[in-house]
Amino acid sequence: MTSPIIVAVDGAAGSGKSTLARGLARALGVAYVNTGLMYRALAAAAIRSGVDPDDAERLVDLAEALRFTVRGDDPPALEVEGYGPEDLTTPEVESTVSLVARHPAVRSLMRDAQRALGSIGAVMEGRDIATVVFPEAPLKLFLRADPDRRVGRRADERGADDRDAIGRALQTRDARDARTNPLAPARGAVVIDTSHRSIEESLTTALEEARRIWPAATP
Ligand code: DC
Repeated sequence: MTSPIIVAVDGAAGSGKSTLARGLARALGVAYVNTGLMYRALAAAAIRSGVDPDDAERLVDLAEALRFTVRGDDPPALEVEGYGPEDLTTPEVESTVSLVARHPAVRSLMRDAQRALGSIGAVMEGRDIATVVFPEAPLKLFLRADPDRRVGRRADERGADDRDAIGRALQTRDARDARTNPLAPARGAVVIDTSHRSIEESLTTALEEARRIWPAATP
């Protein structure tokens, strides 16, 4: 029996993970699971209900109440019931998310949910997918990009033009995120530097790697 298509895509904010992971899921005909949304939804829930981002116990209660589903097609993608994209990208969520994501009890709950969501096949995007969630994933990709490119991408994604503010917010989040997940490629990961590559070029590289492992599933 062939192993399910599980691709782990890790990398820093603004490294181009989401675009690549979504495109890869579409090409491979599997779900796209952006695990950052799960932590973002928890941050939004904590803000809504006034829970302190230091209070791991109450955060776990909030996390248990979140409902994760995979919906739609082209590709089917993770959604969190009751939380739309506009709820998950607010500046408040951006500044709270790495605080709620740092608690081991929260991460353990999310890890179990992520394994359940991805086990039948998915492109999983996050920070610890190849290192913790699916260390046996047949294909592990690690995306990196120069800081300037990352800030530019975030500004474009958010339709914001204050690049300095975006740069500062990204730096703060990077420093906090790095304490939770050292941002380094897992053993055996293919590193793709997206600084000077177009989306298509990065996707082509990723698809070449996938083709070696799942020749029948790749276009
Ligand atoms: O990739 P992103 O910017 O949407 O991630 C949001 C936050 O969640 C970021 O602070 C890192 C954290 N995160 C994490 O700790 N583990 C993951 N697997 C995914 C995201």
